Amino acid sequence: MRLPPSIPSLFRLDRRTFLRGAALAGMGAALPGLLSGCGNVGEPIGPLEVDPAQPWWLQNNFAPVADEIEVFDLEIRGALPPELNGFFIRNGSNPRSGESPHWFMGDGMLHSVHLEGGRALSYRNRYVRTPLYEKGYSGLEGGLPLGGNNQSNVSVIWHGGKLLSSGEVGAGYAIDPNDLSTIGVHDFDGAVTTSFTAHAKIDPATGYMHFFGYWFAPPYLTYLVADATGRVIHRQEIPVRSGTMMHSFAITESDVIFWELPVLFDFAGIAVHGFPFLWNEDYGARVGVMPLGGEASQIRWAEIPPCYVFHELNAYRDGGEIVIDVCRYPRMMDGEIFGTYEPHLHRWRIDTAGAALSFRDEILEGELISEFPVHDRRFSGRQHRHGWFAEPRRYAETIDVGGVVHRDFATGRLTSWDPGLAIGAGELFFVPGGPGEGEGWLLSYIYDRSRSESRVAVLDATNVRRGPVAEIVLPQRVPHGFHGCWVPGTLV
Ligand SMILES: [Fe+2]
Repeated sequence: MRLPPSIPSLFRLDRRTFLRGAALAGMGAALPGLLSGCGNVGEPIGPLEVDPAQPWWLQNNFAPVADEIEVFDLEIRGALPPELNGFFIRNGSNPRSGESPHWFMGDGMLHSVHLEGGRALSYRNRYVRTPLYEKGYSGLEGGLPLGGNNQSNVSVIWHGGKLLSSGEVGAGYAIDPNDLSTIGVHDFDGAVTTSFTAHAKIDPATGYMHFFGYWFAPPYLTYLVADATGRVIHRQEIPVRSGTMMHSFAITESDVIFWELPVLFDFAGIAVHGFPFLWNEDYGARVGVMPLGGEASQIRWAEIPPCYVFHELNAYRDGGEIVIDVCRYPRMMDGEIFGTYEPHLHRWRIDTAGAALSFRDEILEGELISEFPVHDRRFSGRQHRHGWFAEPRRYAETIDVGGVVHRDFATGRLTSWDPGLAIGAGELFFVPGGPGEGEGWLLSYIYDRSRSESRVAVLDATNVRRGPVAEIVLPQRVPHGFHGCWVPGTLV
């Protein structure tokens, strides 16, 4: 089904003018209370309750939704910045069968809101039409994730005029951003023979997309570059000893950085925690550095203390050193419940000046629990001043992500928005709204237990403490998920 004709913007406001107008109208003081759980309906909200008889990823707001819907002209609380013109699309695990052996193993479902001229034109959700979805499989019934035989549930990436869904293992899928329909398996004309990572990096200087795939057999690690049109122009197989769960990587203006950590592909993991990977500290841990767009033979490695990192905030060159800020766990995939290990912000420095790499690890925030790091992608690979994080709450039995934390890396100052226990947020996505680093908006799908209501929250990235400037009320529950992206403009 096609979208309604686009609604022309009645007026154009830049971000500063919009915020000034909001402040004059008294919204700056009033909205946080209105939007963030004050004025809740019903009884006061206590901590999350978890039914031990079923997996945490099938209950509370992790439980899948069954219906695919599209609804137009959504309610907005607050004032939606009129400059936000585009689609905010997020992927997540939503098992069609209702059963899944692990949070990572449900069928990929995409959720999208379309914003234009201060209005929320539509919401829709669609499964990615994978063979596993079509057959109604849950978990590992579908066999190895060869080609499109994967759940495609981890992220969405906008590059080269294409929206790509990634399941981390196996090939990605091309998706129509207008209606979220599945166009088909997208293997970059055969260049991707193993996997398409969920965390591709786009170099702001060239528009090139740098990405990789990990696999269970040689080649265990493949590095690829697609030009700004999405055509693969470079492919290198990088020798490593085994298949490890390599969730992300980083680039600078001149480097590619991998971290090979001791979470190994191992079928024994299925019996331990429903997922075929296991912590194996004997394997060791290391970081690898090679030139951006370089040859596999140029990679250099440095041993590091065993740990696990899903996500980095960003990386950049500082003279002879590479700086990478990461959300670091002490270990992972050893049968733990996710809340067992807390991620903290560390700064890794890799000195590349000598014949051998040297590595240093500094704890930037030892108390703050931080995940889903977000930066202004206009500064990908360049020194960042601003970083935003979602702040998981401490639960032994489940995951519960609370508010938003901003860190100013020039001063070390932290500011945060705590939405209260009723609200669980997710990853934020930064959408530029001004010329300077960090001038823009943070968007996140949130769930409010007090109202049994999902919303998209929009925050001023330069003032997260204020809470959302607007919230878009969604017509059905959106389960907590993984990663999203912003598709700018009005598509047809
Ligand atoms: Fe991720």
